[in-house]
Amino acid sequence: MDRIKIIGGEKLYGTIPIAGAKNAALPLMIASLLTPETLILENVPRLSDVRMLKRILGNHGVDVMVAGKRPGESAEDGEVVRLQAAHIVDTVSPYELVSQMRASFWVLAPLVARMREAKVSLPGGCAIGTRPVDLLLMAMEKLGCKIEIDSGYVLASAPDGLKGAEIDFPKVTVGGTHTALMGAVLARGKTVIKNAACEPEVTDLAHCLVKMGAKISGIGTPTLEIIGVEHLHGATHRVLPDRIEAGTYACAVAMTGGDVLLDGVTPDLLQSALDKLKASGTEVIPEGNGIRIRREGGKILPVNITTEVFPGFPTDLQAQFMALMTRADGVSTIIETIFENRFMHVSELARFGAKIRLDGDAAIIEGRETLKGAPVMATDLRASVSLVIAALAAEGETMINRVYHLDRGFEGLETKLQRCGAKVERIRG
Ligand code: EPZ
Repeated sequence: MDRIKIIGGEKLYGTIPIAGAKNAALPLMIASLLTPETLILENVPRLSDVRMLKRILGNHGVDVMVAGKRPGESAEDGEVVRLQAAHIVDTVSPYELVSQMRASFWVLAPLVARMREAKVSLPGGCAIGTRPVDLLLMAMEKLGCKIEIDSGYVLASAPDGLKGAEIDFPKVTVGGTHTALMGAVLARGKTVIKNAACEPEVTDLAHCLVKMGAKISGIGTPTLEIIGVEHLHGATHRVLPDRIEAGTYACAVAMTGGDVLLDGVTPDLLQSALDKLKASGTEVIPEGNGIRIRREGGKILPVNITTEVFPGFPTDLQAQFMALMTRADGVSTIIETIFENRFMHVSELARFGAKIRLDGDAAIIEGRETLKGAPVMATDLRASVSLVIAALAAEGETMINRVYHLDRGFEGLETKLQRCGAKVERIRG
């Protein structure tokens, strides 16, 4: 298993290109099941989750082809992936695949929309909590789908096709909104989704579906109206930039000090996180097609954070900001409201000497000037990268084990950091 070795203490200077968003690429790839024509996705990140989803979709009969390099393209440009589901040959998504990547459960809606049936394994819990799918199933039932649970599988069927309905989510859910959207676009009649997630990745999916011929209004708001159409067609869509990758590198620069341009991301995608960075004493300057992050000297100021749905502070940046706050000049509180168990990084951050106390859904962080490198273990994707951030500023050597979590969501992490002067090395094996 690969490990990452980091010698801390270097400031970061340079440019980091921001990749396409994993959490947009995954539902967009799944949307290819909705049409027999070709969906071309540009700027798809090279990540293990994307590779896994290519396999899963291939299993359903989707032809997945990665286009060769074009003149003028650089290594930083994402992949161009062509997906064509001319014939869906299998409507079963087995446990072995779904258990490796929760988002693959989202194939349920397009499979039923197109094939009128699906058998998809329940995804099970994961390192950040139980993560139920009750609201996704509720949305499908509202659309007229019959749902049965048998031996760990969801058996979904709609022999007469899906019907438009009103779906009112009692809680904002990204996966629930993706599911409702992908079910509704091919349903008969009108669907209204209330309390829909407004995360940029949901909006990106909606825009792509419109390019494919879907009729959706209210995109970007909590109320989406969909008029079902009989068929969707092929389209070309560029995956939006990864706001979480951008926020992560921004935290890294705030942590070590330095001056880095995050290239290819706009502030509106992560304004709440940028506001917190500014409050911590970091300069945030929109520049051209990117955002410059600068901190030259001065202390890291403590900030209090509560995770919220978009446009609030994202839960996917909570662990990274906690790492930053371990070196703040004072006490900060971070409250996690989205997932009930997303503090797995706390005990690993403590190995650097960080002082963090947990109290229910709150973490109280007493900042200290120096952290010391240590052997640590990655637990989930965002938790892992918080350890990288801590290690970049810690004295001495840190060895991060189980880095396959990082490979799920950060393309070229070591290269991007090395180019900015960090001493980061992947040890294979
Ligand atoms: C998406 O997960 C993201 N995953 C997560 O990113 C992200 O943290 C999350 O949205 C919140 O922004 C992908 O896009 C692949 P939810 P999702 O449904 O859709 C509860 C990462 O690191 N809930 O919005 O699974 C749920 O337990 C990942 O990239 C129900 O109760 O999240 C949670 O408390 C981790 N019943 C809340 O809603 C349901 O049926 C929000 O979850 C569904 C969700």
